[in-house]
Amino acid sequence: MAAVAMTTWHENMAVEAAAETRPAWADYFNDEMIDFWLGEVLWNQDMAKFTSYGVGGCAEAIIWPASVRELSLLLKGIRRLNIPWRLVGGGSNILVADEGLKGITLIFGKRFATIEVVGEKDGLVDVRVEAGCSLARLVNWCAEQGLSGLEFAAGIPGSVGGALVMNAGAWGGDISQVIRSITVMDEYGECCDKEAGQLHYGYRSWGEDAGLIAVAGVFGLQRGDKAAIKEKCRKVVAARMKQQPQEASCGSFFKNPPQGRSAGELIELAGLKGKRLGGAMVSEKHGNFLINTGSATAHDLIRLMHLVQSTVNEKFGVLLEPEVRLLGFAGGN
Ligand code: EPU
Repeated sequence: MAAVAMTTWHENMAVEAAAETRPAWADYFNDEMIDFWLGEVLWNQDMAKFTSYGVGGCAEAIIWPASVRELSLLLKGIRRLNIPWRLVGGGSNILVADEGLKGITLIFGKRFATIEVVGEKDGLVDVRVEAGCSLARLVNWCAEQGLSGLEFAAGIPGSVGGALVMNAGAWGGDISQVIRSITVMDEYGECCDKEAGQLHYGYRSWGEDAGLIAVAGVFGLQRGDKAAIKEKCRKVVAARMKQQPQEASCGSFFKNPPQGRSAGELIELAGLKGKRLGGAMVSEKHGNFLINTGSATAHDLIRLMHLVQSTVNEKFGVLLEPEVRLLGFAGGN
């Protein structure tokens, strides 16, 4: 009674509004998942808060698993209930539709972010990192420990999980050059370790099935001079700041074509720099960055993507393929 008496009319309205916006399957989920998940579920969350683009509609439900065991149990339960799901990393390489995301969006939280040394011999150090760790935190940690190998990644946004799967790279380096093994989980919640030799890394791809999740990676690093490593990181970040825009974006929007000119160069030569549709704009600084000027919708960005693709294709006969993952659009996840 006391709780009811203390609740204001406005609060009651807010609670009712939140309940109304829950998906139809919310009660079913809560009842059926009791054996699989007792943690928090956040309903109807604005995905703009979880992406570097700052656009996108609401996710029907977000869950932050904090361990391999939690993720495994969740996947087993979710499959049983036949609810659509996807895992996202740091949100720096995704574009979420304005219509939002159906089903469950899993995000590895900060709690799933342990960094530990798991082996060392003759100055070579193996470091195991969980997927929820941000790449920035890992790069800083390595610099502080005097461990060399990941300096190329200084300034790359996103999570370690995303970097493992996307084979994140810059300045001639990429994840494939430093990875020793990855712990992967399949859609049934089963885990196994894959050694570097078993992986099929390529340009911006780890070559594995789309349903496979990277839950942790072991990086092979070398002991080095702490000051020199920090200086290299500083130079890499400075070069990035000089050549790439700082406005909200997903990094490079398109993959570079396998041969010939880079995507950025093709877009510049097509005269598209500065082209604006709604709140989306091709950066004046670097052609391969489609930026959110502050008021962009996902729809604006998709329209600009199509315009860039068709113009570059007409002028140069090259169809640019997005590097960014499109989520919630027809045909996507
Ligand atoms: N260029 C232009 N006009 C532009 C942009 C670039 O002519 O507007 C030319 C440059 O002068 C250069 C060439 O295109 O000759 C390549 O440009 P850049 O050095 O900027 O590299 P990029 O291929 O555009 C790649 C990665 C970036 C990474 C940089 C630095 C891809 C798709 N992008 O960009 O990664 O930071 O190299 O190594 O592979 C990302 O993946 O999100 C990302 C930012």
